[in-house]
Amino acid sequence: MTARLPLALVTGANRGLGLEVCRQLRDRGYRVILTARDPERGREAARDLGVEFLPLDVGDSASVARLVAELRRLDPEGLDVVVANAGVALDGFDAQVAATTVDTNYFGVLRVVEGVLPLLRQDARLVLVSSGVGQRDLLSADLRARLDLDTLTRDELSAFMQQFVDDVQAGRHREAGWPGTAYGTSKIGVTALAHLLARDLAGDPRHLDIVAVCPGWVRTAMGGPNAERTVEVGAASILGGLEAPRDDPHRFYRDGAHASW
Ligand SMILES: NC(=O)c1ccc[n+]([C@@H]2O[C@H](COP(=O)([O-])OP(=O)(O)OC[C@H]3O[C@@H](n4cnc5c(N)ncnc54)[C@H](OP(=O)(O)O)[C@@H]3O)[C@@H](O)[C@H]2O)c1
Repeated sequence: MTARLPLALVTGANRGLGLEVCRQLRDRGYRVILTARDPERGREAARDLGVEFLPLDVGDSASVARLVAELRRLDPEGLDVVVANAGVALDGFDAQVAATTVDTNYFGVLRVVEGVLPLLRQDARLVLVSSGVGQRDLLSADLRARLDLDTLTRDELSAFMQQFVDDVQAGRHREAGWPGTAYGTSKIGVTALAHLLARDLAGDPRHLDIVAVCPGWVRTAMGGPNAERTVEVGAASILGGLEAPRDDPHRFYRDGAHASW
């Protein structure tokens, strides 16, 4: 009987950073599940890497539920690493952009995390791909004060993110203290979520770890051709989150070191 390989799942992995994270995890000896919302492109990417594929649209709760059921069947022992990487950076700024961006980048991460939480094994690690673009000082002082990481609940954070979308839709986001960036706001939410989850899961007997990471500015479809970093360097920065010390209350890393937000 062959030894069980540690199991890793990566979202939004048919291209860009997610694909390279799968490659690096494979090279580190993980059994890798590459997921993507487009089954054809996902399957092809997985075949090229020699890893496994499962479909996942992080915008669709039913898709997350199907993935979880499939994972239980695939390896009843559960997951060792989850990299919540799927994200969008859309052009322009209007109600639709705000809604889609927050739904994919913030609620998409939350859906995946809540779905996989029961499947996590002892010492499992969750890495949420955020961005240094998501700086809290983009928010008004009043909004920043509501992001109290010691007391804020997950539901309150979700209501906070939804408030941004509602305020953009109502044409009052400026007066309400929000920035004119859906992407930046969504990533503030992702980094805050990592802090809240780390706090809430501190007493979990499985000794779980959760961290948000920034890959830096990377030459992908999202980052564009003028970005500073190769996809290899960006993916290594994401996987630097796997080495973040578990007892450190700071939960946002770039290149394996604290990043500010
Ligand atoms: N590139 C940078 O400079 C940079 C900097 C900071 C943070 N990041 C973050 O790094 C992550 C990866 O970015 P990237 O540069 O690799 O971007 P990318 O090349 O545009 O890839 C994004 C990936 O997310 C997937 N995706 C989008 N919506 C999805 C959904 N609803 N369900 C499942 N998958 C979905 C895309 O799938 P499709 O192919 O189907 O669209 C694609 O595979 C993102 O979270 C991004 O915000 C990137």
